[in-house]
Amino acid sequence: MKALGLRKRMFRSLRLSLRFIVPLVIALAILAYSVVPLVDRLYLRWSVRDIDIRAKLVASALQDPLTDLLRQGNKSRINALFSRVLRDERLFALGYCDEDGAMIYRTPTFPKNLSCTAPDLAADKPGLLLNLPQGLVHVAIRPMIAEGMPSGSLILVHDMRFVERRSTDTRNYIILLFVVLGVVTSLITVFVAHLSWRGWMEGVRAMLRGEGILRPFSRPTSSELEPLVGDLRTLLRTLDEERRFADDATVSWTPDTLRGLLHKQLTGDQVLVVSNREPYIHVQGERGIEIHRPASGLVTAVEPVMRACSGTWIAHGGGTADRKVVDRHDHVAVPPGHADYTLRRIWLTKEEEQGYYYGFANEGLWPLCHIAHVRPLFRTSDWERYVAVNKRFADAVAGEAKNDDPVVLVQDYHFALLPAMIRALLPRATVITFWHIPWPNPESFGICPWREELLQGMLGSTILGFHTRFHCKNFLETVDRYLETRIEHESSTITHSGMLTLVESYPISIQWPPPWQETQPSPEECRAWVRSSLGLDQGLLIGLGVDRLDYTKGILERLRAVERMLELHPEMIGRFTFIQIAAPSRSVLEEYQTLDTRVRALTQRINERFSRDSYLPVRLLVEHREPEEVNRFYRSADVCMVTSLHDGMNLVAKEYIASRDDERGVLVLSQFTGAAHELHEALIVNPYHIEQTAEALFQALTMPDFEQRERMFSMRSLVRDFNVYRWAGRMLIDAARIRQREKLAVRIGRPL
Ligand code: F6P
Repeated sequence: MKALGLRKRMFRSLRLSLRFIVPLVIALAILAYSVVPLVDRLYLRWSVRDIDIRAKLVASALQDPLTDLLRQGNKSRINALFSRVLRDERLFALGYCDEDGAMIYRTPTFPKNLSCTAPDLAADKPGLLLNLPQGLVHVAIRPMIAEGMPSGSLILVHDMRFVERRSTDTRNYIILLFVVLGVVTSLITVFVAHLSWRGWMEGVRAMLRGEGILRPFSRPTSSELEPLVGDLRTLLRTLDEERRFADDATVSWTPDTLRGLLHKQLTGDQVLVVSNREPYIHVQGERGIEIHRPASGLVTAVEPVMRACSGTWIAHGGGTADRKVVDRHDHVAVPPGHADYTLRRIWLTKEEEQGYYYGFANEGLWPLCHIAHVRPLFRTSDWERYVAVNKRFADAVAGEAKNDDPVVLVQDYHFALLPAMIRALLPRATVITFWHIPWPNPESFGICPWREELLQGMLGSTILGFHTRFHCKNFLETVDRYLETRIEHESSTITHSGMLTLVESYPISIQWPPPWQETQPSPEECRAWVRSSLGLDQGLLIGLGVDRLDYTKGILERLRAVERMLELHPEMIGRFTFIQIAAPSRSVLEEYQTLDTRVRALTQRINERFSRDSYLPVRLLVEHREPEEVNRFYRSADVCMVTSLHDGMNLVAKEYIASRDDERGVLVLSQFTGAAHELHEALIVNPYHIEQTAEALFQALTMPDFEQRERMFSMRSLVRDFNVYRWAGRMLIDAARIRQREKLAVRIGRPL
């Protein structure tokens, strides 16, 4: 096995080396092949020039003795002179031509086919190169001067075979040089390549071990890897999300799936939920204690999750009979008759409620985050109460925790400080904070006098969830602007005071299958019930709005759109009624009182304009309706209007869709809701644009059945697949991974 591994490694290393060596050798061979003839030509040119100079020298040295001997006509001495000169190993032959171009003297070695009149042979030109049977020769002709007069010319033939010999030697040297160069370069390259490769491998391995989505902050071992880190993280994140999505997609998310996940991934760890609003309110009625379910998106979403997970829900006990039903630990088992989980109630004084809930949370943070044209109000006294109440809830969490590492789900803007406070009391807790409302841009958030404290508080969370990526981005930018932290945009994490927070989007949803699926009346029965309870005529088309009476919900804009639709399409007068259920909310606050007055006044104006006999175009119900009743309204409505000016998600939109198992009805949906990012088959509107919303309402009322069915079918599939169990499941899966990693870090005694 070992030998096999070694062979494999050697083979891999050889392959890596060959990858570098082969191109290098080819490049060097090509280079050598083109360099050798070049060097040959160059060397020949230099040699010819040298021989030319040499020929001149020899000729001028012979000038005087030769002219003397010529004058004497001493043939034997001339031959002897020529023979002596020929002892020079380079000089091959000599010849003398008289002024008429006849060769008079020549050495025996003089080439036979070379004459005094050979073409291209001239005194003023460089020597000729001739390839003779004896080999390559250089032929130069030099004029002889006697007493200032030309007296024939001397032909000097040099042996050039030494050039060929030297050329061959040079070629061999060059080839040898290239071979040595190739070997040395290859060795260096392979050595450096192996070293770098190993470094890269180790660096990438380190990143893969620690720099993925699970451990985004460790540095790679080599700074050269820095540019790769971002790409790799993005890739890992995408892969992780895709894998998660694929896993999720194959699973149909139910309470059982969530329970299984809790037991498998979180080994049954304790789950604590903290919210301001409680899921069940006990109210003293005339005929005894009544149980109310609040109009709250938060409760709608978290309650089914708690039923699946058991655990304890800590919330403000605000009902008039809340104290009467709790035990001595302020616990009450809920839901009534099922006792799936425990509700722990926290009691607040009037002053605390005023400062923390009405003041700081709802006059400060609510308008600050929604940016819906109502100015936030910040008072020091409210802030102090907010801090104190957050502390009381933190103590309650610590009190309820059965061990030191519970999973705590902190809900919403009422508890921005709570995560850090919990962390101080229970450093090993996993704190998942979900912010149910939008997060504004840094400039808008910056007007809060306690912005740093709020951000620091939130960064006590292990996971911080928003509905959309856009809100996550705003949050990261806000932290970047106001706090000293390390932000990793690729992995969407923030490190602050040594604590890591994952900022992630988890679009919230509702329970599926919807409650009352089996027991609810048919849409026809619901319509008959709505008509008879409101005294509506048969055959009227029904439009519906269901909201808390809140200025962010765009109720005034919606009513104006209804009015405009009736103006533009008068044939709808007497044929269409709009029902607005507006649950009273935060009514001690001035803004909410003003809104109440304006909504009532506008309703009255519209009704005065368009009413006929018993017909009223708008029915305004400023009252709380229990969820089961609201469901009947949903099932009766031809169109549901959600026209929020800004909304984190808006679960009314999803509830309406869930209620329509008959696949009828149309949803008109504001583009400024988180839901609009998911429910593309709704009629999406800008609620500030009254005509556009009016036309969408008319289009909804006149939409053919088949189109309603197609749109509704598609939206129902989405809400079914992306239900609230999946929302919670995704957060818990992320939390489980982080917990496993932290546990491992503790075991090995260093951060991963
Ligand atoms: O949108 C934020 C939120 O907490 C919702 O979840 C819920 O619908 C609403 O505020 C409840 O407000 P309150 O608890 O003040 O009635």
